[in-house]
Amino acid sequence: MSLSEIESQLSAVQQRATEDISAAARLDELDKVRVKYLGKKGDLSQVLGGMGKLSAEERPQVGKLANEAKTALQSQLEARKAALQSAAISAQIAAETVDVTMPGVYQPQGRIHPINSIIDQITDIFVGLGYTVAQSQEIESDYYNFEALNFLPDHPARDMQDTLYLPNGQLMRTHTSNTQIRYMESNEPPMRVLASGRCYRRDTVDATHAAVFHQIEFFAVDKSITFTDLRGTVQLFLEALFGDIEVRFRPSYFPFTEPSAEVDVRWQGQWLEVMGCGMIDPNVLKAVGADPEIYSGFAAGLGVERLAMVQSEIDDIRRLYSSDLRFLKQF
Ligand code: DAH
Repeated sequence: MSLSEIESQLSAVQQRATEDISAAARLDELDKVRVKYLGKKGDLSQVLGGMGKLSAEERPQVGKLANEAKTALQSQLEARKAALQSAAISAQIAAETVDVTMPGVYQPQGRIHPINSIIDQITDIFVGLGYTVAQSQEIESDYYNFEALNFLPDHPARDMQDTLYLPNGQLMRTHTSNTQIRYMESNEPPMRVLASGRCYRRDTVDATHAAVFHQIEFFAVDKSITFTDLRGTVQLFLEALFGDIEVRFRPSYFPFTEPSAEVDVRWQGQWLEVMGCGMIDPNVLKAVGADPEIYSGFAAGLGVERLAMVQSEIDDIRRLYSSDLRFLKQF
């Protein structure tokens, strides 16, 4: 091949490459163009392969021309690449633009279940009084559910709580009072504690009984806590929850409190029992290693469903668990 032949081939290759570069519409196409012309076996290298027959004077001239062509193509490739990239970004931005005139999608609003709502309200009241919120487990041993709470092995009070036993000898806690033992075991007085959670009993389900239900337990232990503190706390709490309401204490019995009482509120012309309470029995304090000569405390437990039913005038406890949206939407 002669010098002029090579020169015209070079300019032809450059011409075609320039056309292909501007025709490439995507980055992957552009890369194919680069390989086709500038790659190791590309068109440019092939033209230069014919250089062998040229004279020693002619070769540098061709080399110079080839380098110029290569540099020119490289900068065209770069420019095209930048243009394609910014076009891609603009296209993406355009595609992601929010059309504020489009009609919205209806998002139904959830509601707080009446059980959670009353637990929240009661928790707020006690947190306001400086109480700590605690939790304990639902699968319990006899010790924490009964024994440490002063239920002796043959105590008839165990029959009051139709217990669900597990095959391994453990049980489903029948009340939240297990929290008293668990919390006092690992914390030193003074303490003011509130705990809420699920409880389980082998009860036949009807309008006022559920086998799974919720309780709230609150208790305080310190030096020189008296029954007056309990009365004041209960009165304040019930007024915070129900407004101005008549409250009465009736003597009662629980193994873990002495003396014990049940509390009624006057609701729609009737006395309605809302909680059990009392002064923590010295045996319970001893079980957790607190000296009853130094410390005293009160405790109380209340049924959450009962309160929710009173507060929201719900006639059947089963409605609380039926997941019926027509019912739940009312709250
Ligand atoms: N644990 C009792 C129950 O489930 C409720 C109760 C009564 C809790 C008196 C107390 C209490 O802390 O002092 O029937």
